[in-house]
Amino acid sequence: TQALRLGIAGLGTVGVGVVKIIRRHADLLQARTGRPIEITAVSARNAKKDRGVNLSDYAWESDPVALAKRDDIDVFVELIGGENGPAKASVEAALASGKDVVTANKALLAIHGQELAEKAEAAGRVIRFEAAVAGGIPVIKSLTEGLAGNEIKRVMGVMNGTCNYILTRMQSQELGYNALFEECAELGYLEADPNLDVGGIDAAHKLALLSSIAFGTKPNFDGIQIEGIQQISLEDIHQADDMGYRIKLLGVAQRSARGLEQRMQPCLVPSTSALGQLEGGTNMVVIEGDSVEQVVLRGPGAGEGPTASAVMGDVCDLARGLQIPTFGRPATSLQDAQAAVTGLP
Ligand code: HSE
Repeated sequence: TQALRLGIAGLGTVGVGVVKIIRRHADLLQARTGRPIEITAVSARNAKKDRGVNLSDYAWESDPVALAKRDDIDVFVELIGGENGPAKASVEAALASGKDVVTANKALLAIHGQELAEKAEAAGRVIRFEAAVAGGIPVIKSLTEGLAGNEIKRVMGVMNGTCNYILTRMQSQELGYNALFEECAELGYLEADPNLDVGGIDAAHKLALLSSIAFGTKPNFDGIQIEGIQQISLEDIHQADDMGYRIKLLGVAQRSARGLEQRMQPCLVPSTSALGQLEGGTNMVVIEGDSVEQVVLRGPGAGEGPTASAVMGDVCDLARGLQIPTFGRPATSLQDAQAAVTGLP
């Protein structure tokens, strides 16, 4: 059987995690998919840096676009990040040269997902992005595969681990927002632009992707009402606590009489509920379907192992020949988010 050959662009935390899994579990991956999974070439900005993993078996490209176009790869794994720049250019180059794409890039797909899905469709290729939403939790596969027989009523959840860490530490340690923001900066928990985290934008990128999959609409990031956690005070936390509630940055996408409603904002949730009990950097996604009723998924939303685990789930799907369209259905059939969902005029 022919190997599935990968080109990996971006060797940060997630890229290194993917290399480690492929080196550690070559036999397991082959047993599960029926094919060897191999890395052919990699690219990153700094070729000299010691990343704690042996890269000498792989060809090196300094330009991710050149990597994307190589004839000796089948799948382009984009782990560069950012909504434009080399990430977008290399994904486009990969699709144009006949490669499937696996990415962890939530911003890229939340903003340009429809355009890229159409390009993939035109090229007869797919883009898989399990790692872009809620890190290690296989939430996209749950929606597109396990729950495919349901009409989805609502998806909601906590999708930014950093915000959840700050809010739960405010609750349990009596530390103020500013002190915890500094702590997150020191621990390396913040995105390069911290406003993506605390402003609710990173979580909203994820919600746009989830709701697109759940409701069959184009990703509509601009349609999300977004409020971050910067204004939450210890006083707010105490008052909520007195009434039996916790404050969580909660994303909700649901059908309503007005169409698809999407919001990402601090919400009160009962302290004793599963969402209220969610601590630290963990994520939780709740899916409600007409037949299944409610499914709750919980797990690590970031980090080397969990995010690489999600990338590898997608790579294994491709090794098995599973060609699910980018948003679970053809991009050309995706509708605009408002009104499309309810079918109301
Ligand atoms: N900054 C993100 C978080 C990383 O805290 O959840 C994972 O997308």
